[in-house]
Amino acid sequence: GREVRGAGAQVLVVGSGIAGLTAALRASRTAHVMLVTKGALGDGATACAQGGIAGAVGPGDTPAQHARDTSEAGAGLCAAEAVRVLCQEGPEAIDELIGHGVRFDREASTAGSGAGASPYALGLEGAHGRARILHAGGDATGRAIQEALVRAVAREACSVAGPGSLVVREHTTLVDLLLETGRVVGAELLGADGTRLVHRAAVAVLATGGAGQLFAHTTNPAVATGDGIAAAWRAGAELEDLEFFQFHPTALAGPGSFLISEAVRGEGATLRDERGQRFLPALDPRAELAPRDVVARAIARVMRAQAGRPVLLDATAIGGARLRRRFPSIDAELRARGIDWARAPVPVTPAAHYWMGGIRTALDGTTSLPGLLAAGECARTGVHGANRLASNSLLEGAVFGARAGDAAAAVARTGTRPVTAPHPGRVRAVSPSRTAGAGWTRGDLQQLMWRRAGLLRTGAELDEAADALASWQADDPAELSTVAALEDRNLLDLARLLVARARARPDSLGAHHRLDTPAIPVQEDHAC
Ligand code: SIN
Repeated sequence: GREVRGAGAQVLVVGSGIAGLTAALRASRTAHVMLVTKGALGDGATACAQGGIAGAVGPGDTPAQHARDTSEAGAGLCAAEAVRVLCQEGPEAIDELIGHGVRFDREASTAGSGAGASPYALGLEGAHGRARILHAGGDATGRAIQEALVRAVAREACSVAGPGSLVVREHTTLVDLLLETGRVVGAELLGADGTRLVHRAAVAVLATGGAGQLFAHTTNPAVATGDGIAAAWRAGAELEDLEFFQFHPTALAGPGSFLISEAVRGEGATLRDERGQRFLPALDPRAELAPRDVVARAIARVMRAQAGRPVLLDATAIGGARLRRRFPSIDAELRARGIDWARAPVPVTPAAHYWMGGIRTALDGTTSLPGLLAAGECARTGVHGANRLASNSLLEGAVFGARAGDAAAAVARTGTRPVTAPHPGRVRAVSPSRTAGAGWTRGDLQQLMWRRAGLLRTGAELDEAADALASWQADDPAELSTVAALEDRNLLDLARLLVARARARPDSLGAHHRLDTPAIPVQEDHAC
């Protein structure tokens, strides 16, 4: 049975990471907001983020320098204006997080020192020209941000003052967007008790995160199944840059894998092959701190040459005390697995980490569909180009989550359609998975994507992936009654789309690397 609810909420926000919580908080200043999330409020990828949040807040740093590093890592595919907004508004967004109670780590030696000195300890990560990564709890930045925003949301949800309001529903899954005469007017949801709900709203903001679960190895949490991107596509929204999926260079190899932050290399750790030789200095002058796509591919090639065995992350020179102090969560995770990284190198492998592509958005989060906004990893703002710069994703969620929240509230207030950048129409190359059927499991899909559409791609392997995916069908959507079945449908739709876009780009660029065609030189005039 279906139930119609939420007539009071003008803004529906789906997703509860940094982008969704920020959008909901901003919109609820003046509008009635319903925030729904598939798991509990803290289950998304934000809480897993270790390294930190980038921002031009240090002495001598400027938004322009941050923008330059962002664009360079993006391999010429960034949208210049989006990068400018990200880097310019970044420090203010970080201040807002501090206002919500996030306590970024401070550097003892600079605390209280003269004018111009940053009170915060700033870390260095790959492709950043300088140390500009704020972190909290050493390597628990995402958790600190998530907890502070959840506390802010709880306060707002209890508040009766002001013109807006905020209601939260956990364990509520997006099934599909509701469309009326070409406009999104809400969403169909699956409630915790298995009931389908129709929630109507003046505007919907998707902040549903990425889809690392497309691949057999990922740093993403289990909830990262691309639900919002898939639903937006089925509703007809334009998606962009889907062929660009970032693989983090260093996840612990083997069962119980987890992310080992790039900040560890920022502190001086090196990567070695199984014979103990460093291989990055010969490839790139920035060595272990080259852009992520460069490092991840170098590791993949070394692993191929050593029959798939992992490479080694050597942090022994950093020293046990510093490792424990700077990276308490990673240290504890490794120790729980009996690994002492102060004494011996750690086996690591690349893993699917971040989707640069997603729902195409303008600077205010609006999409090609009236009534639909998107922010965070599910959105393609253009700030990441073909390869995201480390620690720019939390920043994107904060900056563009706020913009989307403000724009959604404005729509709710005026009832008018927000200005949306004109997007050229596209012919669909892929049709949605609709027919009932089986013959595949999520594990099959993840292995296929890892082997045939992962870090190193060829046309023949992508063709093979496309053929296999075309032969698999999802169950009839009307019959889907579990979260897992809804997720499987989304993953199949998205795998097909990613593979179709990867086949359509025969050249290598950023994170999309074709072994069978040469890289094209970056067009500077097209760059940010
Ligand atoms: C990391 O800590 O290496 C991840 C940070 C990021 O992906 O931006």
